[in-house]
Amino acid sequence: MATTTELSFIHRIKPATEPGKPPILLLHGTGGNEDDLLSLGGMIAPGSALLSPRGKVLEGGMPRFFRRLREGIFDEEDVRRRAQELADFIAQARESYNLAAPIAVGFSNGANIAAAVLQLRPEALAGAALLRAMVPLQDPPAVDLTGKPVLIVSGASDPIVPAENAKRLTSLLTGAGAVVQHHVLPTGHGLSQTDVALTKAWIDQL
Ligand code: MLT
Repeated sequence: MATTTELSFIHRIKPATEPGKPPILLLHGTGGNEDDLLSLGGMIAPGSALLSPRGKVLEGGMPRFFRRLREGIFDEEDVRRRAQELADFIAQARESYNLAAPIAVGFSNGANIAAAVLQLRPEALAGAALLRAMVPLQDPPAVDLTGKPVLIVSGASDPIVPAENAKRLTSLLTGAGAVVQHHVLPTGHGLSQTDVALTKAWIDQL
């Protein structure tokens, strides 16, 4: 599989092996990188093209997709700027690799930037699976997400994402017209086999 720095993010690209499968944009959590979610991508979307960028912001050496002031408190100016930058990268990658608009599959910080891209550049994504996501912007612009499929999977005992916050994200995206499925699993912030199974089933029915 190619690793490349030619586009605006360091990333991995794995070409599709089955035509007609939606491309998947994999977005890692804090401290991850472009390799982190490739095996998850292979499990949830066999045959799909996988596009996996590395977040450009470093927090104590750990890659992220935007700056935060502390855990759960985001630098929203940076969220807005980085969401635009990621949407521009998606457009470049679509052209370079001849891809349809991807479905984002993001974990934690990667889920939060995917939610911000939905709210700021909805055309960049065909849909999104947001694993342990929270509200990225307190005052998002009005956006039309009519018919956009979104999966949100939260952990009932997640110490980072309060249950109320994940519910608010669900309401915000539903209110904008997205077709949102929200599942709350009896788990914490880490991913479980149930996340994998739910995400695969959700992608299969798109
Ligand atoms: C974030 O900073 O995006 C969230 O707190 C999740 C995390 O990356 O820890």
